Amino acid sequence: MKIGVLTGGGDCPGLNAVIRAVVRKSIQNGHEMIGIKEGWRGLLESKFIKLDLESVSGILHRGGTILRSSRTNVYKIAGGEAQAMKSMKESGMDALVAIGGEDTLGIASKLAKAGVHVVGVPKTIDNDLNATDFTFGFDTAVNIATEAIDRLHTTAESHNRVIVVEVMGRHAGWIAVYSGMAGGADIILIPEKPFDINEVCETLKKRHARGKDFSIVVASEGAIFKKDETKPSDGVVVSSEKIDSFGHVQLGGIGNILAEEIEKRTGFETRATVLGYLQRGGSPSAYDRVLGTRLGVFAAELVDQGQWGKMAAIQGTDIVAVSLEEAVGKLKTVDMKLYEVASTFFG
Ligand code: F6P
Repeated sequence: MKIGVLTGGGDCPGLNAVIRAVVRKSIQNGHEMIGIKEGWRGLLESKFIKLDLESVSGILHRGGTILRSSRTNVYKIAGGEAQAMKSMKESGMDALVAIGGEDTLGIASKLAKAGVHVVGVPKTIDNDLNATDFTFGFDTAVNIATEAIDRLHTTAESHNRVIVVEVMGRHAGWIAVYSGMAGGADIILIPEKPFDINEVCETLKKRHARGKDFSIVVASEGAIFKKDETKPSDGVVVSSEKIDSFGHVQLGGIGNILAEEIEKRTGFETRATVLGYLQRGGSPSAYDRVLGTRLGVFAAELVDQGQWGKMAAIQGTDIVAVSLEEAVGKLKTVDMKLYEVASTFFG
């Protein structure tokens, strides 16, 4: 078979480990590989590169994606589905491995239903893809955020300040909960649980009343103010009203708004730090290299066996096949039992 590989959506540490694994295993299985550049846009525009043993050599530890990425929605382009199929046919591509999150794999799922031979690999630092316990990239992002929280701790303590750390997490607060727990955050705010700014401030005041002079608040970029609690910032905070082709607004800014509100309501000097794209850049952790490699090898096997419409997933300690439809059917949000454990340490 001639097998295409693409990476779509926001980049994520471990993408190159997956590409390397898919390519090496598929070549061992006797197949020919072709790289599709810039996600679904590259398929529509027939932007291909040759992928062989040499082209995936030395990339395991590298961040980003050698194939590049885009947020192109095939189904928002007139005739997009037919064009994708035509491009595959013209290049002699028999099958496709799509590495991405809910948006990229949502397209893969629709294409699979239309008869395209496609298999998925779950990618996102947000860890919000359903049917898999973890996505690669999440562990690296959590490690980066935890290290940042450790560093912010010492400066917060030196200056008797509250520091608000804004981390990524559009619809799910996994990065906030994991890094907040690991870094000993005094409050963690996540999209799954809209927060009352007065309660946040009361918790901080109580903490400072028991003799603490500093606090760390970790907030997901998608954390939500309870409606009408504070103006003008009730609801989700966006940095731009522009909507991408998957209907997402650009989030960001909650850290600064929170810092302002906390200082105003408590009188404690407060600062904000936005970790942003640092969480996505650079070298993957050992865990993500291993997870990406396992998922990639498994995806290559799924292709070899003709298991179309499936995604490689990790459940417990096993790598298993799940349907793409199940994976993109709903988001995997933070387990409230885990959040309760984290909240034991609030205040
Ligand atoms: O989906 C992963 C993610 O990093 C989100 O946490 C974040 O909201 C979004 O991507 C940012 O995307 P962009 O690259 O379009 O700014």
